[in-house]
Amino acid sequence: MIRLAPSTHLRFNRIQKRLLRWYATHQRSFIWRDLRTTPYVVMVSEFMLQQTQAAMIESKLPRFLKRFPTVRSLALAPTGDVIRAWQGLGYNRRALNLQRAAQALNARGRKPFPNTLEELMALPGVGAYTASAILSFSFHYDVPVVDVNIERVLSRLWMPMRDTHETIPIPLIKSLDAQILPRGNSGLWHQALMDLGATICTKRNPKCEICPVLAECKSAKNMIRTRTIAKESLPSKEILYAGQPRRVWRGRVLKSIADKKVINLSQILKVLDASSNPSIEAMIQTVLNDLATEGFIVRHGKSTFKLI
Ligand code: ADE
Repeated sequence: MIRLAPSTHLRFNRIQKRLLRWYATHQRSFIWRDLRTTPYVVMVSEFMLQQTQAAMIESKLPRFLKRFPTVRSLALAPTGDVIRAWQGLGYNRRALNLQRAAQALNARGRKPFPNTLEELMALPGVGAYTASAILSFSFHYDVPVVDVNIERVLSRLWMPMRDTHETIPIPLIKSLDAQILPRGNSGLWHQALMDLGATICTKRNPKCEICPVLAECKSAKNMIRTRTIAKESLPSKEILYAGQPRRVWRGRVLKSIADKKVINLSQILKVLDASSNPSIEAMIQTVLNDLATEGFIVRHGKSTFKLI
């Protein structure tokens, strides 16, 4: 736990006030912020938000919740339907985990939705971030929530970071956040930090001049000095097949199977326009093996496939 001087509390109050005032007029508008924030809705939206563009979630989340409005409906649905509803969101493993989490919740019977970090983190696919997001955004508990945006914003505010890459260790950020977050307003506070991080206190080129907490920021000078010389990210070393990484092909393969009741290998290759390329064909074979081993698809005979 960080020990704080009384003057620090005054600084905290100023930061809270400025940030929440800014958020009131500058918040990003997202569908999941308008929906009723039951723990189930927050859980589904946070599963979707992991590594997926917000724009895609805007269209998928309402449809997903219409098809699976409750924990029970998701828990009892055929897994193939869940994967089908997930198409376009990428990383299908998250859909499997989300359904397994719903099944674990459903198995609790009449017990209410868990409201502790320990119980939430025992659910498949729920890590520290998602568990704390549920506690903050749905239960409105005063718990720290740390994603990459919040980590960066609080690091820079709190101590002079030498350049745009530097952050302070996560346990320290959690301890700081636990003390600075406005009591009873944790949901708004964390969304405000996320929005500041996404729109102003960005990784490479922070727009310090228009930042609502510039006057309180310990890193602004260094950010302004280092942001113009920030290095572009290195080119990726990922192997590409017809210009796309394996993970994109994996999504395409799964979609080709989801679109049909059953499909065989040569039909998959045809749908994906991959019939005449031996290296893509070999990659697709290994993708099919992986998907079968991981429980997304089942194999009928030697080379016919369907969703589980
Ligand atoms: N609001 C709630 N969770 C969020 C997230 N992960 N990203 C942006 N805004 C959010």
